[in-house]
Amino acid sequence: MEELQQILDQALTQFSAINDENQLEQAKAKYLGKEGSLTALLKGLGKLSADERPKAGASINQVKQSIEAALQQRRDALGHAKMATKLSAESLDVTLPGRGNGCGGLHPVTRTLSRIEHLFHSLGFSTTSGPEIEHDFYNFTALNIPKNHPARAMHDTFYIDPEHVLRTHTSPVQVHYMQTHQPPLKIISAGRVYRVDSDATHSPMFHQVEGLWVDEEVSFANLKGVVQDFLQRFFEQDDLKVRFRPSFFPFTEPSAEMDMSWRGGWLEIGGCGMVHPAVLKHVNIDSEKYLGFAFGLGVERLAMLRYGVNDLRQFYESDLRFLKQFN
Ligand code: PHE
Repeated sequence: MEELQQILDQALTQFSAINDENQLEQAKAKYLGKEGSLTALLKGLGKLSADERPKAGASINQVKQSIEAALQQRRDALGHAKMATKLSAESLDVTLPGRGNGCGGLHPVTRTLSRIEHLFHSLGFSTTSGPEIEHDFYNFTALNIPKNHPARAMHDTFYIDPEHVLRTHTSPVQVHYMQTHQPPLKIISAGRVYRVDSDATHSPMFHQVEGLWVDEEVSFANLKGVVQDFLQRFFEQDDLKVRFRPSFFPFTEPSAEMDMSWRGGWLEIGGCGMVHPAVLKHVNIDSEKYLGFAFGLGVERLAMLRYGVNDLRQFYESDLRFLKQFN
């Protein structure tokens, strides 16, 4: 009995000093394992007399239960301590404000394109599009710019092969549309165009909006009205003035360059003119019966003026500090 009490005391003292789960299981073996001291006592029961055996057996079992209970208590305590350390290391302050969800926004050029389309829709124009890789015929020949025409040199063209180019303007969309539709036609087409050119005011890729209105009675006066109305509404400026300067494009006659009033001066915003009969002829539209006008506007120029951006390249540098201002 004395030995039993000693074993129990020893076990309890040992367990309470252990701070590691593995060590605890090892200590358990010392008492309850195959070679354990308590197991040895149980084995020795056989040597006792029949009278002594039940009492001794009961006492050993009691101590065994106490040891097991102490073990379990220590296991729980170690488990809780472990969890507590883990929780304090991973602690979250749920009262801190969120970091925000970093929502994206539309690119200023995209916003400008939607605004342009919206305004022309309200003037009765519908939208169409064409490919960015164009056959020479659409980009040049059908627009009355035959091979070796000096106007081709003005365009600084990116050639894909001798027959295909990255379109240098949106005017080829006019040709596609007139090949597949009969007048009256009233469309705009916005998209990317490409030229071998790069500095603060030129980018090798930029955007144009092409307008085309073909019907039996369409005049240069209509062209002026449409462009002026569009610009006044685009810039929300009723007194905005538009000026048409005589110019030359092979696909329009007469042709003009369009300027708008800006801070006491004039700024060029695109080209225009009455569709050249040779162009109508290329697409089998009777130029005796129909006539029309076309114009091409530079989208980046409009976006720069509207948003006060002074370097065109900012639109294409993907600098979030710049882009976020338009969200
Ligand atoms: N395509 C011409 C350019 O890019 C602009 C233009 C369009 C001129 C339509 C007249 C008519 O320079």
